[in-house]
Amino acid sequence: MRIDPDSFAGGYFENAVYRHWDPYEDVPQDDLEADRERLVADEPTAAEFDEFREFIAQFGAGEEAVTEDLAPLMIALDDINDQMFVSSQIYEEAKHTQFFDRYWREVVNPAAETLGHEVTAPTDQRYFNEDYVAIFDATEEAMEQLLTDDSPEQMARAISHYHLTIESVVAQTGYFAFQSIFSDSGRDDVARREWPELPGLIDGINYVRSDEGRHVGWGMQKVRSLIQDAGVEPQVVRDTLQGLMPRVVGASATDSEISRTEPIAEFSRDKLTRRVEIITDQDATLPTIEELTRVEGGESAAGH
Ligand SMILES: [Fe+2]
Ligand SMILES: [Fe+2]
Repeated sequence: MRIDPDSFAGGYFENAVYRHWDPYEDVPQDDLEADRERLVADEPTAAEFDEFREFIAQFGAGEEAVTEDLAPLMIALDDINDQMFVSSQIYEEAKHTQFFDRYWREVVNPAAETLGHEVTAPTDQRYFNEDYVAIFDATEEAMEQLLTDDSPEQMARAISHYHLTIESVVAQTGYFAFQSIFSDSGRDDVARREWPELPGLIDGINYVRSDEGRHVGWGMQKVRSLIQDAGVEPQVVRDTLQGLMPRVVGASATDSEISRTEPIAEFSRDKLTRRVEIITDQDATLPTIEELTRVEGGESAAGH
C-alpha cells in the first residue's frame, strides 16, 4: 500500500478533509453586512480607510500569489502522501483568494461608496511596497526553479521561501498586526486608533488561519526531514530565511496613521528567528496538528 495514513502528510491531508469549509457560505452574509455597517458608522477618514484596505489588499494578493506559485512543488514531489497533501493546499489557497475577493466586493467597495471615499481595486499598486513585491517575486522564482532542479537543497529553499517565510512569518505578522489593530487581542501598542469589531472579517481570517497552520506544519516537517533524512545542510535554510529577513520586516512595518511600526517589526524578527531555531535544532519538538490548526485570540499555535 503506497498510501500511508500514518505519514505526517497523510495525517495532514485527513485533517484538511475533516476541516473543510466553504468561503461562499460559511462566512455568513449577515456578518459581512455587519462589517459594512460598522465601517460606515465609524466614519474613517479617506487615509484611515485606505490603510484598512491595504491590509485586505495585501492578504488577498498574497493568497492569489501563493495559489499561482504552488504548482511546481506538486510536480517536484514524488511521494503520493505529499502530493495528496499539496493538492489540498492548492485548493485551500484558492478558497482563501476567493474569500478576500468576496470581502472586497461585498464590504470594502460598498463601504467606500457610502462613505464617499474613492473606490479602488485590490490590485492597486499603492497597497504594495517594494519589500512586499520582492518577497513574492523571490518566492515565485524559488518555486519555478523546482521545475528544472528538484534536488533536496532546492526543495528546502523553495519551502523555506513559501511555507516558512510567507505563510509562517509574513502572514502571521499580518494576522498579529491586524488583530492588534482591529480587535481586543494582540498588543495594545500597535493601534493608533480604535476600530469597530468586524465579525465577517474575523470569521474568514479564522478559517484561513486554521488552514495555514496545517500548511506551515507540513512545511516545517518537510524541511526538517530534508535536513535529517536527505542530508540538506541546515545552513541552506538559515541563509534563505535570514536573507529574506530585511524584506520581511520592511514589508510589514510601515509607520502609518493607524499603526506603529516597532512592535510589528519586533514580532516578525522574533518569529523568523524562532522558525530558524525550530527547524535546525534536531531535538526541538514540532507542534502537533491540533496545535497548529487551533485558532486562539492573539496568535495561532502555528506561531509557537
Ligand atoms: Fe492561504
Ligand atoms: Fe497557505
